[in-house]
Amino acid sequence: MNRLQRKVALVTGAGRGIGAAIATAFAREGAAVVLAELDLETAQRTAADIAAQTGGQTLAVQTDVTQRASVQRAVSEGEKVFGPIDVLVNNAGINVFCDPLTMTDDDWRRCFAVDLDGVWNGCRAVLPGMVERGAGSIVNIASTHSFKIIPGCFPYPVAKHGVIGLTRALGIEYAARNVRVNAIAPGYIETQLTRDWWNGQTDPAAAQQATLDLQPMKRIGKPEEVAMTAVFLASDEAPFINASCITVDGGRSAVYHD
Ligand SMILES: NC(=O)c1ccc[n+]([C@@H]2O[C@H](COP(=O)([O-])OP(=O)(O)OC[C@H]3O[C@@H](n4cnc5c(N)ncnc54)[C@H](O)[C@@H]3O)[C@@H](O)[C@H]2O)c1
Repeated sequence: MNRLQRKVALVTGAGRGIGAAIATAFAREGAAVVLAELDLETAQRTAADIAAQTGGQTLAVQTDVTQRASVQRAVSEGEKVFGPIDVLVNNAGINVFCDPLTMTDDDWRRCFAVDLDGVWNGCRAVLPGMVERGAGSIVNIASTHSFKIIPGCFPYPVAKHGVIGLTRALGIEYAARNVRVNAIAPGYIETQLTRDWWNGQTDPAAAQQATLDLQPMKRIGKPEEVAMTAVFLASDEAPFINASCITVDGGRSAVYHD
């Protein structure tokens, strides 16, 4: 409790899934949280739930991370209500899983617009203030696809590799100004994104079972388990962790062969 007392945090894609879990954990730790989400209704519902559950301060702002001006507006609205943003979590992301040679140009652009441009748009909206104040923590939600490849998932891993590159580059660029930029690489986490992928397979139950069988811990992760790591990286308990990535996958990416 209170590990983020007096901090202001902005979480993108916070209406549901991992983003909602991070927003909840942050509020529980005392942060005022801006939920910057494409779907305003979901964001407002989640913001109200979080406030009721934690007694924390929340603000829902309709945001499209693919649009620089939209992210900038969310930051400005958040700062007007709560004050300068201390913590940014670039969480909004989409799965675009294609075969490289049949993928359309639109699939390629859609993937990069959300999964990589979206992260950069978040960073550049908060960095000037953080650099000026000499303090800040940015947490980018990457993926185990940031360093592992599953055939047929193109170009998602290309964008997610880019998120690690962006994290490392910006982490070094502003380290001397005490602005830390880190990433979290979740493995399989139980969210709507994962359920949608299972449901898109010919036999969803078999696909789910196959996923579980591949996990060393024989289960997939919970959004709250990613959120705990986000709290740690965002807080003053990680002052010397920078340009780094923490994997939260139950050990799955350490396995060489099944
Ligand atoms: N679920 C997993 O297994 C898993 C694994 C590794 C990484 N991730 C990453 O974690 C992040 C969150 O995933 P999730 O599983 O919670 O997904 P989710 O689909 O459940 O939630 C994503 C949220 O982002 C919002 N969003 C989508 N596009 C947006 C945009 N342009 N602007 C603002 N908000 C937008 C959606 O409306 C939704 O509320 C993503 O970056 C994803 O790539 C997820």
